[in-house]
Amino acid sequence: MPLNLNEYLKQNTARLDQWLDRLLPSVETPPAKIHEAMRYSVFAGGKRLRPTLVIAAGELFNAPEAELLPTACALEMIHTYSLIHDDLPAMDNDTLRRGRPTNHVVYGEAMAILAGDALLTQAFIALSGYATVNEARKVRVIAEVAQAAGTVRALIGGQVLDMQHEGDLTVTGAQLEEIHRAKTGALIRCAIRVGAIIGCASENELAALTEYSEKAGLAFQVADDVLDATATSEALGKTAGKDAAVQKATYTALYGVEDARQRAQQLCDEALAALERIERDTESLSALARFIIARQS
Ligand code: IPE
Ligand code: IPE
Ligand code: MG
Ligand code: MG
Ligand code: MG
Repeated sequence: MPLNLNEYLKQNTARLDQWLDRLLPSVETPPAKIHEAMRYSVFAGGKRLRPTLVIAAGELFNAPEAELLPTACALEMIHTYSLIHDDLPAMDNDTLRRGRPTNHVVYGEAMAILAGDALLTQAFIALSGYATVNEARKVRVIAEVAQAAGTVRALIGGQVLDMQHEGDLTVTGAQLEEIHRAKTGALIRCAIRVGAIIGCASENELAALTEYSEKAGLAFQVADDVLDATATSEALGKTAGKDAAVQKATYTALYGVEDARQRAQQLCDEALAALERIERDTESLSALARFIIARQS
């Protein structure tokens, strides 16, 4: 039976939300305010794409749910932290996220910074507690996640470049690709790789999945740039048109909407081609790659 992606996303989101609730300190735990702020952004919605990629990659190898789900949640915590900080006045200065006022608008800047820090930390608490029972693989997973969240061709490094190139109309295509691969691609790559590592993928399978994830990760940010330029704030749950207003270095700014769309399609096709090298049922991953470029929010 062909996969119903909406149903697949919905079912995984329900499972993930249960685990996230378990892995995050309750709002009664002192100091209550920080736990409220962390949960506010985590449970504000969101597509849960990165954790779903962990699950989809792990499921290829029949990895145990009790290892995949907490690892998936850890990536969603890191992603949510990155959004809270991305929205801060010192960064993108956004007031709307996941259809709600941003974390700093509700809790103040100091608490939003701390909520982001706390989600990053909580992710590693979750990983050290639950990311596989095999100690060697657990260390490997933790190292992969730490790398992806870091500064070298990774999330924070990408955010640094993103800020440095704001208003820079001379950014080259190669520089732009580097920014996008780092700020967004690294975590998506990591999501796929940790799912595969927990599932004990072979080196060849891991290489093919890594290629898939790098193409899909870049495609994701190209699509995000297109959506910023073409969708409404209501549909996105975040302020549309911001990139052009502050002259962000984006695919639409550099190449225009049509060429950016074509680039996203090409990357999606390349991601699908990488999956062909795996002799397993990769239908969920191909559906997710198509979703990454076809999504409306
Ligand atoms: C937004 O990510 C930030 C980027 C990396 C472009 P998502 O579009 O996955 O945001 P949520 O998780 O669905 O809110
Ligand atoms: C954000 O890129 C990337 C990270 C949060 C690491 P954007 O700044 O384009 O994300 P949105 O558009 O605010 O979601
Ligand atoms: Mg940003
Ligand atoms: Mg932003
Ligand atoms: Mg954006």
